[in-house]
Amino acid sequence: MYQDILKNYKIKENPVILAIESSCDETAASIVKNGREILSSKIISSCKEHIRFGGVVPEIASRAHTAAISIAVEEAVKASGLTLGDIDAVAVTYGAGLLGALLVGVSYAKTLAYSIKIPLVPVSHIRGHLSAAYLSDKELKPPFVSLLASGGHTAVIIVKDYTEYKILGQTMDDAAGEAFDKVARVLGLNYPGGPNIEKLAKEGTSSVAFPKMLHGNGGYNFSYSGLKTAVINYVHRFEMTGENYNRADVAASFQSAALDILAEKAAEACSEYNLSTITAGGGVVANGYLREKLTALCSKRGYKLILPEKILCTDNAAMIGAEGYIQYKNGNFAGMDLNASARVEL
Ligand SMILES: Nc1ncnc2c1ncn2[C@@H]1O[C@H](COP(=O)(O)OP(=O)(O)OP(=O)(O)O)[C@@H](O)[C@H]1O
Ligand SMILES: [Mg+2]
Repeated sequence: MYQDILKNYKIKENPVILAIESSCDETAASIVKNGREILSSKIISSCKEHIRFGGVVPEIASRAHTAAISIAVEEAVKASGLTLGDIDAVAVTYGAGLLGALLVGVSYAKTLAYSIKIPLVPVSHIRGHLSAAYLSDKELKPPFVSLLASGGHTAVIIVKDYTEYKILGQTMDDAAGEAFDKVARVLGLNYPGGPNIEKLAKEGTSSVAFPKMLHGNGGYNFSYSGLKTAVINYVHRFEMTGENYNRADVAASFQSAALDILAEKAAEACSEYNLSTITAGGGVVANGYLREKLTALCSKRGYKLILPEKILCTDNAAMIGAEGYIQYKNGNFAGMDLNASARVEL
């Protein structure tokens, strides 16, 4: 029985982990050694299939995962120069995300772990985003402040230890990425909104005074719904009167209003909790404006900043391998009854 294999299993010193991610529209597989070294990372995205619907269609995403998962895994194994026999564990995102999409990865990972008799490691996608930083700085050790800004989450977190977190504050409504996607739609930009707003913002200036959300109050919490509504109302007012407005200025103004506060609150946390390192993760952290803002702020205040490469900020499997390593070392193994979960606690 599979459970018997786990009972007698000895945790390896420098494990090679095959990680699988399928929580949204990226089917990804990666081979990560010792939680820090990416031997290969493959991402097959169904993003283009969702553009005409203005957002991810769960059924389309699930079907795309089914078609792509074997290819992603095979390519990742091949690119690593290893064989399946060299893999010590399979780590898989079991949540948070789209249930049908997650189930494709979870079912694949279970089958693989069972057939080659290695541990199955359940990984939270959110923790994966936070652990991307370990791939970017191989010496990084907790404690540090982590800024999480993705399509579904926005939070300032203290990573006290590898498995111990304290959420200082989070969004009370929309996530940062969600706000980018919604504002993009109003500006007539395609999904995913973040990169398209960033591109348009480069042609404009931050000249429209949108509300600075929870600036100076609200602790470490965020609220994007007021800002989002302000942008929507601004655009609709011009559209109703037929007057021209500068879309690029709106994009630039929204971008700075949405992102300045993220960098400021992360830096504030570093100061209040007497820490010296800030890391960041999640798709929004791929934004060049936010990266520059964080870089400038950290350099001014003398904090060390660990910014994962952009490809490690948006969804990928390498970050699941990094977090999978931490869970593996803790002996957090799943059985064949592992289920997918749309929501998970950090
Ligand atoms: N350059 C960018 N600027 C701003 N936002 C961006 C950029 N690139 C991606 N995003 C946003 O990041 C989000 C995607 O990030 P990610 O893939 O981490 O989210 P998710 O996996 O859907 O959600 P979660 O990780 O919270 O479950 C989208 O909302 C997208 O618009
Ligand atoms: Mg994500």
